[in-house]
Amino acid sequence: MNVLITGGAGFIGSHLAGKLLERGERVIAVDDFNSFYDPKLKLENISGFEANPGFTLCRADIRDARAIARVVEEHPPHVVCHMAARAGVRPSIEDPLLYEETNLKGTLNILEAVKGLNLENFVFASSSSVYGAASKVPFSEDDPVNSPISPYAATKRAGELLLFTYSHLYKIPVTCLRFFTVYGERGRPDMAVARFTKLICEGGEVPVYGDGSARRDFTYIGDILKGLIQSLYTPFPYEIINLGGAHTAEVKELVSIVEKNLGKRARLKYLPPAQGDVPVTYADVSKAKRLLGYSPEVTLDEGVGRYVRWFLDRVKKADTV
Ligand code: UGA
Repeated sequence: MNVLITGGAGFIGSHLAGKLLERGERVIAVDDFNSFYDPKLKLENISGFEANPGFTLCRADIRDARAIARVVEEHPPHVVCHMAARAGVRPSIEDPLLYEETNLKGTLNILEAVKGLNLENFVFASSSSVYGAASKVPFSEDDPVNSPISPYAATKRAGELLLFTYSHLYKIPVTCLRFFTVYGERGRPDMAVARFTKLICEGGEVPVYGDGSARRDFTYIGDILKGLIQSLYTPFPYEIINLGGAHTAEVKELVSIVEKNLGKRARLKYLPPAQGDVPVTYADVSKAKRLLGYSPEVTLDEGVGRYVRWFLDRVKKADTV
């Protein structure tokens, strides 16, 4: 099976690519190696399988319709996993047009390129942020999602709607997975787990937005991958499914867990609450369990421990080069 992964050199995309190659699938990874964070990290993410004959890397920006059409023509996929996006909640307020171009026009470019292919499945990376500042927890897929509070969240919800349209018009099987704050090895450096680990390790000031009482359903990458892979092999006409850890922790609690794992105290710097941030996320995963057999297993303690070990190992390797 040929699987096109957009954002294939990113955090979740590269993990997925590795798992699919292990299963003997052919992977076509599209990535533009943009500068949202150091592109060297993305090269590192895929360095383990670049020599694999089943792996093809296409450097292309999903905003470029012609480049995307060419990739699809040269490597027609059976399944698409659309992970590429501008993904920061807070930065989307600074540059909403970039988010609109990448997350909406980019998604349309992919859909236009593949609509005639009789795809077996199309899986889209959506986000828990679509639930907005909802106070009813846990979030279930039937809850209203008409009040996103960041441009990023609005583009992710709009992406789900565009996918509904294409599933209807072109009979493309679509699943939108709403990921809940995914962390773990190779995690995005702008996100809390990676950022806190690096700063505490280096003795830098750790910025905490608000009073640290915001809660997140932090979800370990290994759990996400199980749900994601099951989803790729389980097409539905159109579904939206939460993939979360099904527990929440305060940002303050996360700081303590990182401190414990590093054996080092954090220097905290409290900042005003960040615009666009929701107060809480918490996934109801009963639908994922029913449709995908999904059941998150890794606790925040355990997952952060794994991340910190990976991080320290990387630092050690860099020091010895
Ligand atoms: C994350 C990802 O960035 C999105 O791509 C994804 O769609 C979203 O999760 C999701 O769940 O769908 P976010 O929840 O903001 O967004 O994740 P983090 O950046 O890890 O932040 C978690 C919490 O830590 C937030 O309350 C944030 O305000 C706080 N934080 C983060 C800080 O206090 N300081 C920081 O330096 C970073």
